[in-house]
Amino acid sequence: MSSTSERNSDRPRILTGDTPTGQLHLGHWVGSVRRRVELQHTHDCYFILANLHAFTTRADAPAAIRRDTLEIVRDYLAMGIDPAKATVFLQSEVPAISELTFLFAMLLPFNRVMRNPTLKDEIKVKNLGENYSFGFPLYAVGQTADILAFRPVGVPVGEDQVPHLELTREVARRFNQMYCAVGDTIEDDDHVREGGVFPIPRAEVGAVGRLVGTDGVQKMSKSLGNAIFITDSAKEIRKKVSKIYTGRQSPTEPGDVTNALFQYVDAFIDDPARVAELKDRYSRGDNLGDGHVKVEVAEAIDRLIAPMRERRKEFEGDDGRILEILRDGCARANATAERTLALAKEACGLGFFPRSLTIG
Ligand code: TRP
Repeated sequence: MSSTSERNSDRPRILTGDTPTGQLHLGHWVGSVRRRVELQHTHDCYFILANLHAFTTRADAPAAIRRDTLEIVRDYLAMGIDPAKATVFLQSEVPAISELTFLFAMLLPFNRVMRNPTLKDEIKVKNLGENYSFGFPLYAVGQTADILAFRPVGVPVGEDQVPHLELTREVARRFNQMYCAVGDTIEDDDHVREGGVFPIPRAEVGAVGRLVGTDGVQKMSKSLGNAIFITDSAKEIRKKVSKIYTGRQSPTEPGDVTNALFQYVDAFIDDPARVAELKDRYSRGDNLGDGHVKVEVAEAIDRLIAPMRERRKEFEGDDGRILEILRDGCARANATAERTLALAKEACGLGFFPRSLTIG
């Protein structure tokens, strides 16, 4: 399979991924996976399963983390990620990432890491208070290593990950300046030309933001119980969509076409003419009830999900096949990350001995 990476190696490289927290849902599809499925045709794609990061808040649940990790691979495959095109791999099987994390941790002031708004938000949302582990904020440094180990030009992510990308860009600049004699007035795009090990990667934030959950208020999230999964049946989808709250009283009341329901219309009804028609009638209160729109949305979602549901069945129960895909992905990921690590170690005076790494 190394022929795949050779075939793709002249394409621009991107890296992105997920922390395994459970099954993927429609919010993941809309916000990120759909884009990845497109990118795998034009880019050299690396998709990381950040299973070590999962330990930063769930160290007591290793079996659940392992199960969630394998489930995400099934969801990826069902949604159309093709392991013959993209490299899907486990963070825990790429030691170069952990080694770079240690080096990068020296390049960021502790207070700078703690100022990361995404980190702060997580502490609040997950109610971690003052009791988070030492390792918890370290994941933000770790994420800079997840990315830089692959020296990608771009990182397709949602808005919430942008602070992590800013941190990553700072680390890359500082490393290049401190260890590769790149001047501190050099433009980001010129770092590699000037001898830097790391390109300064860009966050590529998708046009589609976060999908609102079926409660119509919070973003879609498994833990909030407002998610639609690709394993949901047509009936379950209908039931969930029927709950989307709009606050509208009657079909003749002029409706707000930016409400939660219409975010679903925009996200899932493919025909632009139909979307325009629905919006026109809804906003004028032209006898178009929420219930009608919901039926159409549920049908559109089912049309999207049905083939995913079918494809996912092929991979159910069979861990062997999933592990084979990961084994191959980890081998490819290590080939790339080890090259980066060798360059980085050389640059900071740690280039003692050559080494090679094999996945058994
Ligand atoms: N923190 C990301 C999330 O929770 C997952 C992630 C880990 C990631 N490492 C990454 C995303 C590197 C992009 C690049 O969704």
